[in-house]
Amino acid sequence: MSTPSILLIGAGGYLGGPVTQELFANRSRFNRIAILTEESKKQKFAEHEAEGFELVLGAFDSPDSFKGFDIVICMLGNHAMKCQPAIIDAAMAAGVTEFYPSEFGSDIGRGDYLTNRYFRDKHITRQHLRNVAKKNPGFNYTFLITGGFIEFALLPLFGMDVDKHTFTFYGPPEKQEALTAVHDVAKYLVESVFLPKSPSQERIFRIPGGNYAWKDVVATLEKVQGVKYTCTYHPRQDAIDAQKACAEKGDVDGELAFALKSLMGDINAVSVPKPWDNDKFSFKPATLEEAVRKFFEDLKRGEDKLARDFPMPSQS
Ligand SMILES: NC(=O)c1ccc[n+]([C@@H]2O[C@H](COP(=O)([O-])OP(=O)(O)OC[C@H]3O[C@@H](n4cnc5c(N)ncnc54)[C@H](OP(=O)(O)O)[C@@H]3O)[C@@H](O)[C@H]2O)c1
Repeated sequence: MSTPSILLIGAGGYLGGPVTQELFANRSRFNRIAILTEESKKQKFAEHEAEGFELVLGAFDSPDSFKGFDIVICMLGNHAMKCQPAIIDAAMAAGVTEFYPSEFGSDIGRGDYLTNRYFRDKHITRQHLRNVAKKNPGFNYTFLITGGFIEFALLPLFGMDVDKHTFTFYGPPEKQEALTAVHDVAKYLVESVFLPKSPSQERIFRIPGGNYAWKDVVATLEKVQGVKYTCTYHPRQDAIDAQKACAEKGDVDGELAFALKSLMGDINAVSVPKPWDNDKFSFKPATLEEAVRKFFEDLKRGEDKLARDFPMPSQS
């Protein structure tokens, strides 16, 4: 598979932007680069098509959509993540040999991450991949464990307001979070395609840009923006209570958001445990300050609007 053919799902989302850019920059290394979508969404990918991306118009659960591709990269958001088991079955039936599920976040295989409501569909997908791989020795999959995206840590949905210069958190200021700039997530993804396979069929790369305390994220914003932030640190239990209240009234998005906040505020929860695999890659990830500066430059050019307007945290 020296020049593999790669198929993207969810390419028009937040992560899809940097990933399609990075693939485009590396297009000579691929035989085909294609986006799977349906007829009704064709217009959404007109620019991609003009750039030379192939569009496959088909259903997620039909093997026909996957024929001729070696690798599938799935970048579906929260509400579509439950489709992944059917996608995996269709990809497998069509002869795909490498599958990247929509992970791109914390290491959910341990501790409270195993049971937190927020990651339910990611766990179902992991289990499905393991079952499929057991029955199909030629089928491999890769988890890209990046920690949170730095750009997402700057959003109101994580308690940060970069306009009002406030931060609200359900835990102590010293709590650390593994964070990576989204453009580096895309670089890790594309480079990982060309790294050796794992003999066990399951390949995991733990590749955060760094571990940062929330008080350091605030301090970096203060430095870059030249302003002082007002911070409110609630007891973590408040997020746990809010999660329960949302669940009781059927507010799924609220339930998910507070489930995530309560985990992020837990001083004992390590989102990406070491050892990390960054040394297997050819580049150094951006530091928190570099990524924050880029975030504001992109904002000025209107390029990170999508992240700021995001209604709901993805399963990070
Ligand atoms: N660690 C972090 O901080 C962090 C932050 C953000 C995202 N992530 C992870 O990155 C991955 C992608 O997230 P994202 O934020 O890029 O996702 P997103 O923008 O919410 O959605 C990605 C794509 O999913 C498809 N999609 C969404 N809802 C759908 C539905 N109801 N039916 C069919 N398709 C639907 C759309 O595909 P089309 O483009 O084809 O229309 C959409 O563009 C997820 O695994 C997420 O957890 C992690």
